[in-house]
Amino acid sequence: MKAEKNAIILAHYYQTGDIQDIADFVGDSLELSQKAASNSADIIVLSGVKFMAETAKILAPDKKVLLPDIYAGCSLADSCKPEDFKKFIDENPGRTVISYVNTNAEIKALSDIICTSSNAVSIVESLPGDEKIIFAPDRNLGNYILNRTGKDMIIWNGTCYVHEEFSLEALLELKKKNKDAKIIVHPECELQVRMVADFIGSTAAMIDFTKNDNSKSYIVATEAGIIHQMKKENHDKKFLPVPPVDSTCGCSECRFMKLITIEKIYKCLLDEKPEIIIEKDILLKARKPIIRMLEISEKQGF
Ligand code: 13P
Ligand code: SF4
Repeated sequence: MKAEKNAIILAHYYQTGDIQDIADFVGDSLELSQKAASNSADIIVLSGVKFMAETAKILAPDKKVLLPDIYAGCSLADSCKPEDFKKFIDENPGRTVISYVNTNAEIKALSDIICTSSNAVSIVESLPGDEKIIFAPDRNLGNYILNRTGKDMIIWNGTCYVHEEFSLEALLELKKKNKDAKIIVHPECELQVRMVADFIGSTAAMIDFTKNDNSKSYIVATEAGIIHQMKKENHDKKFLPVPPVDSTCGCSECRFMKLITIEKIYKCLLDEKPEIIIEKDILLKARKPIIRMLEISEKQGF
């Protein structure tokens, strides 16, 4: 059916292993947007969450973009409502608005540049030294960028419910039992977790790190779906997920990401819905800052 319909399945690293294995392409947020912008398919099935499917649609407006479960949202994107964000920008005039890709299309339409966790620091560094910035919506990623760049930044107070829930106590307990394990952390995590990290990076950067580093085990502070890809790339290494503060299952999963299943992917390709539709005016406004991100990233070799 995929071949008949000339469709491509793009999946995020937080999808379940079975989905990652049948996808045509697996990547982090930046790679998914780059792939959406350059492929010859007629239909994109975005196996991830809504802001990723919207970004694909904005970059490929002539293609049909399908999201297997329309309720696959994001707590971080939803923490930033357009009317509140517009007010925030108006109250802080003269600042360049940099928004994380984990935002809804309306927020992107209000922004000057988009970034992902892969390129956030270098996007901010690409601006002149004294340029004042508004960063939204993730306060942890914002603070991480602020510490790395020392820029004049005002940061929106949003968080990802998965990344802010990691238990430092459980992490240190894992480290005590696995002294040689390196702690690898996503920048959406809180400061106390970032402070004990051996490496901080986007999902793709974390995977690359485990490939190129010579340790034999890693304590992984991001959504547990990433471990599927890490194991595939490193058969001889051990990966230990950090549990959340309130843990019954022992690992951290994003309930929005996990709404997507193989069955839903099949059904959405069969029915060609749910389809992502974005109002033309919003789409055109949101496209500019994403293209700006892709251009800066290309120049910087991302
Ligand atoms: P990256 O894919 O940019 O690492 O972002 C992680 C994330 O939280 C996606 O929802
Ligand atoms: Fe959103 Fe967090 Fe889930 Fe990513 S992991 S989709 S940021 S809620």
